[in-house]
Amino acid sequence: MRWRWLWFWKAFALVLLFAVNAQAAGSIKVGVAGPLTGDQGALGLELKNGVIIAAEEWNAKGGLLGQKIEIVWGDDQHDPKQAVAVANKFVNEGVVGVVGHFNSSCSIPASTIYRDGNVIQITPASTNPRFTERGLWNVFRVCGRDDQQGGVAADFIAKKLKKTKVAVLHDKTTYGQGLADETVKALEKARIKPVYYSGITQGEKDYRPVLTAVRQSNPDVLFYGGIYPEAILLTKQMRELGMKTIFISGDGVWAKEFIEIGGKAAEGAFITFTPDQTKIKEAQGVIQRHKEKFGSAVGAYTVYSYVAAVLLFDAIAATQSTDGVKIADHIRKTKWKTALGPIQFDKKGDVLISPYVVWEVRNGKFVELR
Ligand code: ALA
Repeated sequence: MRWRWLWFWKAFALVLLFAVNAQAAGSIKVGVAGPLTGDQGALGLELKNGVIIAAEEWNAKGGLLGQKIEIVWGDDQHDPKQAVAVANKFVNEGVVGVVGHFNSSCSIPASTIYRDGNVIQITPASTNPRFTERGLWNVFRVCGRDDQQGGVAADFIAKKLKKTKVAVLHDKTTYGQGLADETVKALEKARIKPVYYSGITQGEKDYRPVLTAVRQSNPDVLFYGGIYPEAILLTKQMRELGMKTIFISGDGVWAKEFIEIGGKAAEGAFITFTPDQTKIKEAQGVIQRHKEKFGSAVGAYTVYSYVAAVLLFDAIAATQSTDGVKIADHIRKTKWKTALGPIQFDKKGDVLISPYVVWEVRNGKFVELR
């Protein structure tokens, strides 16, 4: 009989040993969500690459709280319903924090699920003001806001281009319509009322009917609130219709695909976005690592995604905690030195400084206007 007990205790010790090892080799889960596949996949790739670089750096120095960082990916396909499903899954899986989402239409509905799950959320790219305007303790963004961005676009139209006949289109999303409306609001301050205003549906292939209606209003400028896939079609089809209207849009169109696929039709377009990140001295390290690892230049939001991830990792390490409230408090009260330069957050979770400038597509490149 005794030998049986011996086997039992041996087996028990073995199980215990495995359990202890698993604990020591456990991981800190961080959720990363955005349009990882689909027609906005290029934006998802910026998010992905930025976070991968940050996680590799941290894991090389030993991870967080003695454990490896494990990225849990969430593909929301820029669909709000998918975003909510991803958020619920992240909370159930016990992620400590989230980098994402990318589109405002996804970040906003996901944010309350994260709040209820005691999870902090740092978006690298969601610029709609409402993200931080609802009094949520758990939300941060490292990018700017569309009330600033729309103001810069309106100013450029009114003061630089000195145009008054402005048509406005948007993609009916939180971001696209929001940015269009902020631009209209700022134009109205300059006593410019749009000659045309309408929404399009994302994912359609033929925008010629709406562009024909735009043309009938005889505008000098078409302001578009939306993302690059539709902007490519709009500019191409505008030129096919023989329209010479100046095309202006925002950060969602600052993508190399807009130029590469748009070709000639993209030439002369004006896009509001942040000043040239490649000139920031603190950004040189991540830009270089991106080139080495992925063989390409960083995109619009790669460095932003890297910074969002680093802030989260840094705050977990500094607080030695996985408690969302503690991490959020630390992020809010810290003067950060980041790859985007110094960053500080206000109570709402917005960065104190986030300048916007206008870029022009010239000879197949984005050129920052001064
Ligand atoms: N800035 C864009 C958004 O908020 C990407 O959706």
